[in-house]
Amino acid sequence: MAHLKTRADVEKMRIAGRVVHRAIQTAGKAVAPGVTTAQLEDIASSIISDSGGTSPFLGYAPQGHPPYPAWTCISVNSEIVHGIPGRYVLKAGDIVSIDCGAEIDGWIADSAWTFPVGKISPLAERLLKVTQDALFKGIAQAKAGHRVGDIGHAVQRHAESHGFSIIRELTGHGVGRTLHEGLQIPNYGSRGRGTPLQCGMTFAIEPMISAGRREIGCLDDEWTIVTADGSLSAHFEHTVAITTNGTEILTNGE
Ligand code: MF3
Ligand code: CO
Repeated sequence: MAHLKTRADVEKMRIAGRVVHRAIQTAGKAVAPGVTTAQLEDIASSIISDSGGTSPFLGYAPQGHPPYPAWTCISVNSEIVHGIPGRYVLKAGDIVSIDCGAEIDGWIADSAWTFPVGKISPLAERLLKVTQDALFKGIAQAKAGHRVGDIGHAVQRHAESHGFSIIRELTGHGVGRTLHEGLQIPNYGSRGRGTPLQCGMTFAIEPMISAGRREIGCLDDEWTIVTADGSLSAHFEHTVAITTNGTEILTNGE
């Protein structure tokens, strides 16, 4: 099901996207040993509310889940996504993903970035680079005339060629008037398969990649998704629009 956007719609999503970018990057600059994940939430949520935005995450309640209790998801080390900010104190060597959405004037953008805390291991460095590069390889395939499977194929091939695993239970998604609309964008797939991509589509591409095995678990908070084997996991996400100008990234601050 396609929710096609006009040029004006895309520009409104870009306004939300700029706020999301600023929230994540400002919180990211505060990442350091001794900082709590709740402090990162405070920084990001203040930027969104000061910009006249609200959170599409806060109160979000898919069937069978308690309402999500924060404006950001902050996921450390073996936490893949949907970590709830709180008292955890970051320490050198951790990696921390900050995932954040904003709704402004009825339009939503969604993005995530994983940051190193102090000096991290060579494995963690490699995981961050490979996951970030996988995102951009996926974005490069997101163009009119391609299919959803072309994105997943590019992401999967890059991750697996480095010995890492794709998390399969969670996907990218259409985004616009609502946080999750229309398409799912898996981070694995086959070239030339899946829904055709066309101008006016807007969606989030978000590789979640484990340095170990791909199986997942969920913590008792009913939100935090972790790697079952405790291995490190990284997450990078951009909201993109397919337009007559090509593929535009709406959450890179431009
Ligand atoms: N960026 C995530 C997603 O797109 C976060 C949403 S979970 C929420 O699915 F509950 F926080 F909204
Ligand atoms: Co998302």
